[in-house]
Amino acid sequence: MDRAKAAFPQIHTFRSDVSDPKAIASLYEQVTEQFPEFSILINNAGIMREINVHDKAGSLEDITREIEINLSGPIRMVKQFLTHLKTKSQAAIVNVSSGLAFVPLPISPVYCATPSPVCIHSPSPLRVQLKNTKVKVFELAPPATQTELLGAFNSEDRKGVSVMKVEDMVRVAVKGMQTDRFEIRPG
Ligand SMILES: NC(=O)c1ccc[n+]([C@@H]2O[C@H](COP(=O)([O-])OP(=O)(O)OC[C@H]3O[C@@H](n4cnc5c(N)ncnc54)[C@H](OP(=O)(O)O)[C@@H]3O)[C@@H](O)[C@H]2O)c1
Repeated sequence: MDRAKAAFPQIHTFRSDVSDPKAIASLYEQVTEQFPEFSILINNAGIMREINVHDKAGSLEDITREIEINLSGPIRMVKQFLTHLKTKSQAAIVNVSSGLAFVPLPISPVYCATPSPVCIHSPSPLRVQLKNTKVKVFELAPPATQTELLGAFNSEDRKGVSVMKVEDMVRVAVKGMQTDRFEIRPG
């Protein structure tokens, strides 16, 4: 967040935690008070961990952390922000899922379970339920992209995987949104 602010000083940032319902409610209060005209919610927060099911370490609470952040997070964010978005003449929700919804990666078994329900949440029920509103629903499913998310994985784990540059992925994503391509699959 601090690096984003350093690179783009004109952006405003708020620190929050999508796995904490109270933090989402507080974020909503701050954002709508300071930026009442905001009209696009991009659910981009996510983590991806290498998990070995044979590993005896780790707790029952921690094993589902990806579900809390990657899946429950966007569902709660939509619940919290939808009433506000519906007041706008044009608005959009962008749910960032993953190409791994289609081609699972065995070393990240919990992560792989999270994007597919978001895909289901995004194109079907949510879009159908919002069809008579001004809120568009996009699903963005990036392929492996050169961000910090991949930093935790060693080169052996990523062998044979082609990795997209962030700027190329974002270019495709923005064009998709500008042209109302509701299911955007860069790469
Ligand atoms: N990179 C890929 O290959 C790839 C491929 C397909 C899909 N995706 C998806 O793209 C999205 C963005 O990931 P990325 O590649 O840009 O990874 P990244 O560089 O690791 O960024 C992840 C972002 O999520 C935020 N975040 C993590 N936990 C959070 C929480 N509990 N509450 C709020 N924010 C939280 C992080 O904030 P902090 O920096 O403050 O921790 C960070 O800004 C994710 O949903 C990921 O699953 C990535």
